[in-house]
Amino acid sequence: GSGKFFVGGNWKCNGTKDSISKLVSELNSATLESDVDVVVAPPFVYIDQVKNSLSDRIEISAQNCWIGKGGAFTGEISVEQLKDLGCKWVILGHSERRHIIGEDDQFIGKKAAYALNQGVGVIACIGELLEEREAGKTFDVCFQQMKAYADAVPSWDNIVIAYEPVWAIGTGKVATPAQAQEVHVAIRDWLSKNVSAEVASKTRIIYGGSVNGGNCAELAKQEDIDGFLVGGASLKGPEFATIINSVT
Ligand code: G3H
Repeated sequence: GSGKFFVGGNWKCNGTKDSISKLVSELNSATLESDVDVVVAPPFVYIDQVKNSLSDRIEISAQNCWIGKGGAFTGEISVEQLKDLGCKWVILGHSERRHIIGEDDQFIGKKAAYALNQGVGVIACIGELLEEREAGKTFDVCFQQMKAYADAVPSWDNIVIAYEPVWAIGTGKVATPAQAQEVHVAIRDWLSKNVSAEVASKTRIIYGGSVNGGNCAELAKQEDIDGFLVGGASLKGPEFATIINSVT
């Protein structure tokens, strides 16, 4: 693998003040392996609550951001505001934003560039739909999404790539370790050919899609899986801790 194991918990559009307070307590009392970067991404409206109650051991990410500087953009949240709340990361290009909201590669690339230029790390998501996999287009789709990031970003120093096959997200249908490893290798190879050998070897490529306490260990053993982006299972403190501690 490359760099320090990285585990992100994407809480998506879940939680209440009460349920989040409980989850934060569970995370604060969990024993976590020291050699892992741990990040959680609460909904915007709970970021301040989490920042003020969660151990500094765990960093905070947003789930999205506006494409540029704040201003007359009703309903949007700027990177500057996220920094003000103490966010170190932002998840961009998540499949739910690509396929439900309709964000395209160029829009996502611009957001990534803006966040990185402001010093906020980007968890850059990519991944194919089931029909794309079945049509043998997995690599083409992932490479096209990678190219959009590569064309836009100023540097790869503060980017973690999250490979999330869309058919595995929230479905309980996890990619096999071999399926995930195959795509991770291909992404690393793409980086080597299209960015640099150094970026390819240093950039963490994490897997997301139905990761849970039961399947994380086998996935974590794969050479090119450098961590996880966890949805559903990150809403349960003890299970999320198990996933963090699957570092090998
Ligand atoms: O960002 C997280 C992914 O979409 C995975 O979600 O673990 O609920 O399948 P999931």
